[in-house]
Amino acid sequence: MTPRPLKGTLKVPGDKSISHRAIMFSALATGKSRIIGLLDSADCMATADCFRKMGVSIEGSSNTEIIVKGLGLHGLKAPSATLNTQNSGTTTRLISGILAAQPFHTMLTGDASIQKRPMKRIMEPLSQMGAHIISIKENGCAPLSIEGKPLTGITYHSPVASAQVKSCILLAGLYAKGQTIVTEPAISRDHTERMLNACGAPILTDENAKSVCVSTCDHLHPLDVTVPGDISSAAYFLAAASLIPGSEVTLQNVGINPTRDGFLRVAKAMGADIEMTNERTVSGEPVADLIVKPSVLTGTEIGGDLIPTLIDELPMIAVMAAFADGTTTIRDAAELRVKESDRINAIAEGLTAMGADVTELPDGLVIKGGQKLHTAKVKTYLDHRIAMSFAIAQTALGEAIDLDDRDCVRISYPGFYTDLTSLMK
Ligand code: S3P
Repeated sequence: MTPRPLKGTLKVPGDKSISHRAIMFSALATGKSRIIGLLDSADCMATADCFRKMGVSIEGSSNTEIIVKGLGLHGLKAPSATLNTQNSGTTTRLISGILAAQPFHTMLTGDASIQKRPMKRIMEPLSQMGAHIISIKENGCAPLSIEGKPLTGITYHSPVASAQVKSCILLAGLYAKGQTIVTEPAISRDHTERMLNACGAPILTDENAKSVCVSTCDHLHPLDVTVPGDISSAAYFLAAASLIPGSEVTLQNVGINPTRDGFLRVAKAMGADIEMTNERTVSGEPVADLIVKPSVLTGTEIGGDLIPTLIDELPMIAVMAAFADGTTTIRDAAELRVKESDRINAIAEGLTAMGADVTELPDGLVIKGGQKLHTAKVKTYLDHRIAMSFAIAQTALGEAIDLDDRDCVRISYPGFYTDLTSLMK
């Protein structure tokens, strides 16, 4: 079958990382915050639910426009039951940094995927700061028991470039005595730094040293935030319209923060025709409209400091690479193995089933494009980004792929299939 072109204009839902932070920092601010364009997805609702359980009022005419009545840095109440972060790594890791400093004990757990994801990466620095944090099953994963303690600032050289680790330590640092400094091997997304700065927190970034420093903070100002569209969600439509002849799509209001825009850089290096217009700054985040038309894509090399800027887009890039001419090599991306699923394995397995030439590396993939692709049975491993990437593979192929689970897109993009269908002309 011939693939149907994508045509029209779309406003993708709010950025997931920024939405989580907007809820959390508003909950800790003193007074009322207003958040517009919040992502209404299972992950962000898990964050809202955890803070409601600690006494924070979060209300709104809809889940995308909310008022949060912040209780102040020291106003959270002890939850009466275990906090459940569901499938959300961002909720689990960031909230741990906050809980480590509260004058109460919390139990924290999540779904089967969360209970396999590495938490030692936050337990170690938080313990160095004085926190009492224990993995109940002694496997370095949730469920976690967190006994809040007075904390002391540390300098932590994170072995991984991870915004979740960095943000966890910085949040604990707001409560810690003295300064808390985090360095990372490559710069990860900086939404925490931007938003804490807007809240008036004493936070400073040294980009050359790839480090961020926060000092003890008395209170955070409430926020008035408009959340930009999520570039990670936009990537699916940028890929589809690049691959399908006759397409032309305008994506409005997409966040183009330089710590998140690696997909745009790689797509352009592969030959994609993406025009950026109407560049502006919204609530401290750079935003633009993106116009994408089809083009012939060729393979490229992806690695090093670029990886954290496109970590969530690598499944989509790998699918694009299978449809492109030439070889694409992805390296330095071992972090993909500890996401909602082992994404290196999930992508390699799915693309291979479709007839692609894919070699799995410990830290990446080699994809030799130009093979004749066909429909197949593909396992999502209940991972939203795997499901959406293969849904785009199906659209570009023009034939149905037998995906074992489609519903998992609710984690970051519940309206994904509706939006995709709305563009298919
Ligand atoms: C996120 C950081 C990234 C990313 C995740 C969201 C965040 O994870 O993969 O989807 O909001 O801080 P890591 O920090 O583990 O790289």
